[in-house]
Amino acid sequence: MSEKKILRQKMLKYLSGLPEHEKKEMAEKLQKKLYTSPLFQKAETIGITISTDIEWNTYEIIEKAREEGKKIASPKCIVKTKEMQYYVWDQQDQIQVGYAGIKEPIPEKATPIAANDIDLLLVPGIIFDKSGYRIGYGGGYYDRMLANYTGTTLSLCIEKQIVDQIPREHYDLPVEQLITEKRMIKIPK
Ligand SMILES: Nc1ncnc2c1ncn2[C@@H]1O[C@H](COP(=O)(O)OP(=O)(O)OP(=O)(O)O)[C@@H](O)[C@H]1O
Ligand SMILES: [Mg+2]
Repeated sequence: MSEKKILRQKMLKYLSGLPEHEKKEMAEKLQKKLYTSPLFQKAETIGITISTDIEWNTYEIIEKAREEGKKIASPKCIVKTKEMQYYVWDQQDQIQVGYAGIKEPIPEKATPIAANDIDLLLVPGIIFDKSGYRIGYGGGYYDRMLANYTGTTLSLCIEKQIVDQIPREHYDLPVEQLITEKRMIKIPK
């Protein structure tokens, strides 16, 4: 098994073993930190996944962003090409469970948006390093997307999810900022 795969599995095991109350506490801390970020405050359109249980909860973030008049765009995975199409949505009946048990916008009900019309993209990940490189779920969906994305990128993770260095492939792309329960880390370009 590749080193990335081993690291990914180890961290997934750790995260899934966290007691519910700790997960909730961490997610709340990450949310609060995110709201203080100028990147969040300035963004008019936010690209964000609708979280599954293993990810940091994004439901409150989506709600908060809407309260502040921001648009929410969420991705739908195109399995055949391993690409993602983002759609703006604002009602529960515009989303449904799709690829890999992830809630996604329904193309007929939500509004497609070009990735580069998203101001701030929250990039999910399982492990990050100090240079912003990440290990995701292994599909390469975000690496493909980031290759053409011109907006700002940010990831939420707890300190435990940050390591010194992650093995990099030529197609791996870093995020620009990490927000943990303790700090905001701007990655130098
Ligand atoms: N820009 C790209 N074009 C073509 N294939 C790519 C590209 N980026 C990644 N891939 C492919 O995607 C696969 C998975 O990549 P990787 O293991 O880095 O996933 P990941 O970063 O964990 O996933 P994700 O980006 O979905 O979070 C690799 O086998 C790689 O060949
Ligand atoms: Mg990658």
